Amino acid sequence: MDLSLAKARRPLQGSVSLPGDKSLAHRAALFAALAEGTSVVRNYPDSGVTRAMRNALEAVGVHSSLDGDILTVAGNGLRPFPNVGAVAYCGNSGTTIRLLAGAVAGTRSSAVLDGSEGLRKRPMDRIAEPLRLMGADVSTDGGHAPIVLRPACLHGVDYTLPVASAQVKSCIELAALGANAPVVLHEPGPSRDHTARMLRAMGAIVVSEGLSETVHPAAVLKPLDGTLPGDISSAAFLLVAAAIVPGSCVTVRGVGINPTRTGVLDILSAMGARISISGERIEFGEPVGDVTLAAGPLHGVEVAGDLVVRSIDEFPALAVAAAFADGTTVVRDAGELRYKETDRIAAIVMQLSALGAEVSEFPDGFSIRGGTLKGGTARANGDHRLAMSMALCGLCVPVSVAGAEILNESFPGFAPLVESLM
Ligand code: S3P
Repeated sequence: MDLSLAKARRPLQGSVSLPGDKSLAHRAALFAALAEGTSVVRNYPDSGVTRAMRNALEAVGVHSSLDGDILTVAGNGLRPFPNVGAVAYCGNSGTTIRLLAGAVAGTRSSAVLDGSEGLRKRPMDRIAEPLRLMGADVSTDGGHAPIVLRPACLHGVDYTLPVASAQVKSCIELAALGANAPVVLHEPGPSRDHTARMLRAMGAIVVSEGLSETVHPAAVLKPLDGTLPGDISSAAFLLVAAAIVPGSCVTVRGVGINPTRTGVLDILSAMGARISISGERIEFGEPVGDVTLAAGPLHGVEVAGDLVVRSIDEFPALAVAAAFADGTTVVRDAGELRYKETDRIAAIVMQLSALGAEVSEFPDGFSIRGGTLKGGTARANGDHRLAMSMALCGLCVPVSVAGAEILNESFPGFAPLVESLM
């Protein structure tokens, strides 16, 4: 599918709410599978990646049903999954395969976890190594999926993550629930802490202190009953759309504003957008608010360090803001972008260049000279976030995105929602 958004002939205006956060949705479905009893989760997003988690759970023997946006999961408790040795296909979803691996190890289940060609290229040694240190019986295909897990007794460890990754951290946290002693984790940067928050809400003991955390073994998890906050990662596209069309003012209601995820708001404000948050509340153990962005003249910024971890999924969208800003934006310390749905550093550079922008690539980032993008045809590269980001350029210059159907992996309502603001 080729996608071309219509050029914005006037400022974007309006207020929208969004389907639930994907990171939280993955966790809610999986943790509900480990709970004792039936969980009910509202505002559950139905997209390719969330279906991947539900299908993988079905394969290991945990049934869920989705009625509108209400997910119901019949928990299996912290026992081995019913379907011994099942092959669970995790599609394109890194969160599904890495978190499910932790749950399989922690429940002493046996399963084979596999995925799409793209997922098979992504590094799995980053979870296999710590799981083995805990005593798990894990094998991979040279550090890649398929991952084969067999039942084993797990013990406590003190482990320092080599990269700030919430998927790795969550995998270990889930395995730790079934270990015979506490597991202590240290991470190099503030990756999202949704797993610790949700497990605590379910009765597990997870003690956080700065970038360290202790996870205690658990016997039982309480079922979930709550409403997922809107996805800040999807909101990012609407906020960038408003930021690049002069005079726009857009509100996204009920968005998750967990501080480990709000780097995108900090970066857009540093670039000159005016962002305000109202109606702050807690839902599902997570801070939520209504985020309003009023466009202001955008200028280039430098982004590095912990801010990168706090906005790790938002660089394709932020690159578009940079392309329409005055001056140059430089992103460093972002080498992890090379291990996402695609090598996002190479892909951002290649696609923005295809649209005429002046861009440079570094091993750990990129730079973009604003005001140089002319338009043309970009390719999604099998990456949902790249597809939506490149499409946003079409609000200002003529752009068509080839392979844009991949956006259904995460945000099927993207184009109509952007157009509803025009
Ligand atoms: C996620 C963690 C991040 C992020 C991904 C979702 C999660 O990945 O990029 O989209 O839900 O835990 P890493 O843990 O690989 O940084």
